[in-house]
Amino acid sequence: MHPTVLVIFGATGDLAHRKLLPAIYNLAHEGQLPERFEIVGVGRRDQESEHFREMVSSTVQRFSRRPPDADVLDGLLAGVHYVPGAFDEPQVYAGLVRALAEADERAGVPLDRVFYLSTAPEFFPLIAAMLGESGLQRASDAEVRIVIEKPFGYDLQSARTLNAQLLEVFDERQIYRIDHYLGKETVQNLIALRFANALFEPVWNRNYIDQVQITVAEDIGIGGRASYYERSGALRDLVQNHMLQLLALLAMEPPTAFDADRLRDEKLKVLEAIVPARPEEVPSMAVRAQYAPGVVGGISVPGYREEEGVAPYSRTPTYAALRLHVSNWRWAGVPFYLRTGKRLSRKLTEIAVILKQIPHVALQSSGSVGIQANQIVLTVQPDEGVSVSLGAKIPGTRMRIRPVNMEFRYGTAFLSESPEAYERLILDAMRGDATLFTRNDEIEALWGIVDPILGAWDADRSSTVPQYDAGSAGPPEADSLLEDGRVWRRL
Ligand code: BG6
Repeated sequence: MHPTVLVIFGATGDLAHRKLLPAIYNLAHEGQLPERFEIVGVGRRDQESEHFREMVSSTVQRFSRRPPDADVLDGLLAGVHYVPGAFDEPQVYAGLVRALAEADERAGVPLDRVFYLSTAPEFFPLIAAMLGESGLQRASDAEVRIVIEKPFGYDLQSARTLNAQLLEVFDERQIYRIDHYLGKETVQNLIALRFANALFEPVWNRNYIDQVQITVAEDIGIGGRASYYERSGALRDLVQNHMLQLLALLAMEPPTAFDADRLRDEKLKVLEAIVPARPEEVPSMAVRAQYAPGVVGGISVPGYREEEGVAPYSRTPTYAALRLHVSNWRWAGVPFYLRTGKRLSRKLTEIAVILKQIPHVALQSSGSVGIQANQIVLTVQPDEGVSVSLGAKIPGTRMRIRPVNMEFRYGTAFLSESPEAYERLILDAMRGDATLFTRNDEIEALWGIVDPILGAWDADRSSTVPQYDAGSAGPPEADSLLEDGRVWRRL
């Protein structure tokens, strides 16, 4: 890999501390970083590089997935520097120009630059513009990339504006939009499952599949993120990005190669095949709700409206469920059910592909009661793995059937621990591989799907937002989305 300097804007913030810096340490631990690698932190806190190094060291000790090795950590810290200042101050960028020139000089070659914007989203256009004004968007004989985190806009219009602002300074091929779900091992395993096996693809279509259910259930509440979450809600926070990415990977055609544009072209086609709902259709295809007080994991918790920083009459949904259709040859008529919520009974992210019932039951009625449609379930977290449910004969002198599971578990099949999503993504951004990042046209297609739902919900001020008990499986209203006797999988 080319020698690289990673510039982290918002280096003293929460994401940098909990995720980025520990991920970088783990990459160093595994010898995956370029031989010549430096970090420049940029933050509002006025401190010397020395203090920032101490901060990095203690954050790695605290949040790394493995206890840090002193030599590896010291080696990493030796290349850590800090530029203080607010993101709108020209002297920050002048300081950065100097710091990068010094890093090039130390390395004896121009380093590739990766600007990681680990800041509130309102700073993205400003920082990009200031980088452009300082001439930092290009470097001679080195690559320059910019990494941004969601939210990419607040709706379709603002996402378009943000894309345009970034594209005024950077080329699309320089922009890396992170969706951390794509960095998860098990999400990439969906690609492996589909395209490294001959078993599944023949049934992966409307002829054999009855429905798909994608669940992202969380037991946590909103923590200290009320000011973000109040403006966001479940649909923007999880559906517009992570869940629709899962849907796109599940439903896309096989790409001809596993490279950035080919894969993203295929995902885009799926997203564009999801016909946006008309306002009058929204009540029958989307359900929102908020958590009420309840008990999660044996602990009493407040309702959403009682959380600190949340308005007492807030209408922000903490739960969203949708029924979507991918209108193309492969998927016509197959419902895709999506649900996500905070403060549900447990944390579970899974993709369940439920096949059609067998066409004819040859068994006697007493034996056939246990026959259920086959299910292929990919568990993204926890208990990462894949299970396939089959009907099997119950031992005994009669022909009686019961569903059993054929399971593959990451924990037992592979003895190594999976890397954190951020490790993979930071590394990919440094090596210039955008396969697991979201392209600008994808972002707009994603917003195109959720925008009409958000619009209809915003316009409806009269109906009450359904409540569900914290610690439950969500609101009963979500059952109304499932037609023809279908039911949600048990949480
Ligand atoms: C983030 C959301 O993108 O994803 C959070 O903003 C959510 O609200 C988180 O909790 C879930 O991520 P994970 O990796 O824990 O499933």
